[in-house]
Amino acid sequence: MAEYETLEADILVVGGGGAGLRAAIACAEIDPSLSVAVISKVYPMRSHTVAAEGGTAAVIKSNDSLEDHAYDTVSGSDWLADQDAVWAFVKEAPEELIQMEHWGCPWSREPDGSVAVRPFGGMKTERTWFAADKTGFHMLHALFQTSLKYDNVTRYDEWFVTKLLVEDGRCQGVAALELRTGKLRAILGKAVILCTGGAGRIFPFTTNGSIKTGDGMALAYRAGVALKDMEFVQYHPTGLPGTGILITEAARGEGGIMVNKHGDRYLQHYDLGKPLDVHDPNHPQLRQMELGPRDRLSQAFVKEMEKGNTIEGPYGDFIYLDVRHLGEKKINKKIPFVRELAKNYAGIDPVHETIPVRPVVHYMMGGVHTDIETATSLPGLFAIGECACVSINGANRLGSNSLTELLVFGARGGKNAAEFASENAISDKRALEAQARDEGERIVRTFILKQGGTERISTIRDQMTKAMEAGAGIYRTESSLKETWDTLMRLRERFEKIALDDRSNVYNTDLTTALELDFMLDVAASVAFSALERKESRGSHQRTDYPDRDDAKYLNHTLVYRTEAGPRVEYQDVVITKWPPAERTYGKK
Ligand code: FUM
Repeated sequence: MAEYETLEADILVVGGGGAGLRAAIACAEIDPSLSVAVISKVYPMRSHTVAAEGGTAAVIKSNDSLEDHAYDTVSGSDWLADQDAVWAFVKEAPEELIQMEHWGCPWSREPDGSVAVRPFGGMKTERTWFAADKTGFHMLHALFQTSLKYDNVTRYDEWFVTKLLVEDGRCQGVAALELRTGKLRAILGKAVILCTGGAGRIFPFTTNGSIKTGDGMALAYRAGVALKDMEFVQYHPTGLPGTGILITEAARGEGGIMVNKHGDRYLQHYDLGKPLDVHDPNHPQLRQMELGPRDRLSQAFVKEMEKGNTIEGPYGDFIYLDVRHLGEKKINKKIPFVRELAKNYAGIDPVHETIPVRPVVHYMMGGVHTDIETATSLPGLFAIGECACVSINGANRLGSNSLTELLVFGARGGKNAAEFASENAISDKRALEAQARDEGERIVRTFILKQGGTERISTIRDQMTKAMEAGAGIYRTESSLKETWDTLMRLRERFEKIALDDRSNVYNTDLTTALELDFMLDVAASVAFSALERKESRGSHQRTDYPDRDDAKYLNHTLVYRTEAGPRVEYQDVVITKWPPAERTYGKK
């Protein structure tokens, strides 16, 4: 049947952002005889990597070391990162960033021509490489144009993967909707790599683009793979109220400060350091205060709000980010995008005015459970980047580690998937095609042909995001999480009664929005469930009913599995190789 025509490649990469393209290049390079398919629901240059701003971390300066980068990452993670993975990450990071240079990424430079690095939150020295404040844009361009030179890479742009095809205990393909025609096809592959990004859209205020709906996490979860550490959701302290648009940490790396409604540089009252000379962005203690880790800064905002020190606005409370003292020349050179965004989306010019900002959901530390080689527990299935949890980020990711993560583990994962594909064959083509056919029929039956639906997609989505913010936000309790969980369960039931307005085949965004919401409800439930199970406070997971870190019970990763009876939890020890758990101090002497 034409509509179920089967496509095939040796390796399928799901997602065309930084992780997906880096993995595809690695596969293509390692063995030119292998065919690689990059399947993406958007044109690759529209992937969310493009929105990354401030930079990407790797040791380059002579006064820095791999040990220091590893230690900052481990302590920033509140000791939940696996130290073997962190070590592999910091070790392979510099090589990857130099490789990016060779592929055409225009790193910003010092006057002497060397690569410039800037300070970033939680990093105790300058090690964040950048391309002004459009780092993700330039990296994605460099990766995309590099991927074009490999004849063995074929792209399927605007294809939406709805299901993983598993046969004989191995992942051997995907069912994917071609958005242009509405046809559901089987795409078979000997190895499948998920690179679909995070799930910030399960929350109402997020820096994440609308495409970040947790698709890869839900696909793996439904195929029986655990989601790891889903309770750890990162709030970035400086998003624009209303839109959630990111105002990069680079603004603070360059010397920007945060003040409350009284003009007080309030972070000095928290464990983030002593006040600094705001006119000296090169102060050795710059890591403190505004360059504390994101979890602490976001928590400090909530405390300020409780004290009545924030400003009330139509989109909730906010404080100010002040970069005026940097001067127009520096702002235009180092953070031009901050100026552009503030002008266009907040109606202010940061050269002359302070920028209203508030914490917004930015990143999921949790994701598809993988080992250090990016392999999941399902043979043939790999996961990389924000959709995965290796884990190098633990309970709190340091800013500028994620772009590097997608390169390092993109390269590793691509290589491993290519090896796996060389050693395994498609075992039962007919059975896989039958699965895809069933999936096509499910979608038609559940969404296209269904009559009498009464629920709106937008209503369920709004209620889901509000429930997440209310009960599973920066601070959580048993009762707030239970309420969120109950709401999510009710929304799941109501989702069965949704009504689609558009039943056509061509670019049916009503359908893709429904499929995304279906995925998001699973991912949101895994966050609430994991957060309920972790009865301690660590990093971004702050339980006011369990305010302390509890290493005796919870120095481990949460693994949550999907079962018919609801989620099931298991735990896995954190890998400690060198740095035993210690108090996480920033400002204290
Ligand atoms: O603020 C930023 O530019 C974000 C960077 C990151 O999340 O790594």
